[in-house]
Amino acid sequence: MRVVVGISGGIAAYKAALAIRELVQAGHDVHVVPTASALRFVGRPTLEALSRNPVTDEVFDDVAAVRHVALGQSADLIVVLPATANTLAKLATGLADDLLGTTVLASRAPLVLAPAMHTEMWEQPAVQANVRTLAERGATIVGPVAGALTGGDAGLGRMAEPSEVVAAALAVAGRASGPLAGRTLVVAAGGTREPIDPVRFLGNRSSGAMGVAIAAAARDAGAEVTLVGANLQRPAPSGVALVEVETTEQLRAAMHERAAADVLVMAAAVADYRVDEVADAKRSKASWGERPTIALVQNPDVLAELAAAPRSSLVVGFAAETEQDDDALLARGTAKLARKGADLLVVNRVGHDEGFGDVDTRVRVLDASGVVADAAGSKASVARAIVETIARRTAARSTSEGDA
Ligand code: CTP
Repeated sequence: MRVVVGISGGIAAYKAALAIRELVQAGHDVHVVPTASALRFVGRPTLEALSRNPVTDEVFDDVAAVRHVALGQSADLIVVLPATANTLAKLATGLADDLLGTTVLASRAPLVLAPAMHTEMWEQPAVQANVRTLAERGATIVGPVAGALTGGDAGLGRMAEPSEVVAAALAVAGRASGPLAGRTLVVAAGGTREPIDPVRFLGNRSSGAMGVAIAAAARDAGAEVTLVGANLQRPAPSGVALVEVETTEQLRAAMHERAAADVLVMAAAVADYRVDEVADAKRSKASWGERPTIALVQNPDVLAELAAAPRSSLVVGFAAETEQDDDALLARGTAKLARKGADLLVVNRVGHDEGFGDVDTRVRVLDASGVVADAAGSKASVARAIVETIARRTAARSTSEGDA
């Protein structure tokens, strides 16, 4: 996606650098348009190095390329961070006396603004009226938040964190034109825990990183996302509804309640067994004895249940296998896909030192006909590839059902 990052002249301008880096790392083509005063806070070389594109604030640079409208016309998204009181006023009035002004006017792309200023300025009726005008015309306003301001002041007016602004901006762009725009997606992530007594549980090493990455990628693709999180060791992405669960039974209920969604993804490591008789009080060594045994009973297979129910949703499962041989790994995946009845199965390899947490990973996505996608890299990039496959499938199903 082609993203224009506008920067106006406030001290928070230095934080725009972090947002640019995050957008570039996520694979976007970023063009930075600073105002002249923004360039007094952060240098052009920094912005060019991070965005990997030339940076100018000058309408009269490179006139042959009609830069003053070309950037805006070709943008898929414009995000201005920070948006100062002055820039908000100019944008609300439609002023075009610099490159940022002409770029915004020449664009039909979604506009996301992250205001930053002192509390007194933010609360001025003039500023509030400008913000209202911009919001009424369709701009998305992210923040400001309360916190430390320049010069030792504190209060409402601090720019939202750059990653929050980026997340909100990508979600806005996704909803406008993403491949999952208008779709609902529910993803179960993390690892379920089965209580033994009030303080102990049987659990697994899943951090939820992959499911959380899928939730973020689906949100960026435009979906309305619910994350059913079982003991997540990662924060839920912003813009995603979080439903927290602990046990398999809770996860199962949460998924069945939401089974009407367009896409159901079971990325959670679900405990196959639960403790037969959970003790009401903490068990002591005296009650355990020397070689205790814990009787387990099998849990229902949530994925198989979701797949077997009458449904119009696309059901996606995961299989984390320790199988080292590639053919055997895929064979296990194919058998699991058939056994569970899911539409797609994402297969990856795990081991004591492989697969868990924020590490690079490789996945293959299988359907009944074989491998339909093969992706390797960070969990974020792999999640994007999985979501692209889901989006293609969802689009194909709607076309065949005639509702596209
Ligand atoms: N799964 C589920 N409910 C269970 C167990 C697993 O919904 N009780 C889902 C997982 O979320 C995942 C898929 O099934 O999407 C495969 O999980 P896995 O643990 O590999 O499946 P098992 O049936 O436990 O396979 P195995 O026979 O290899 O233990």
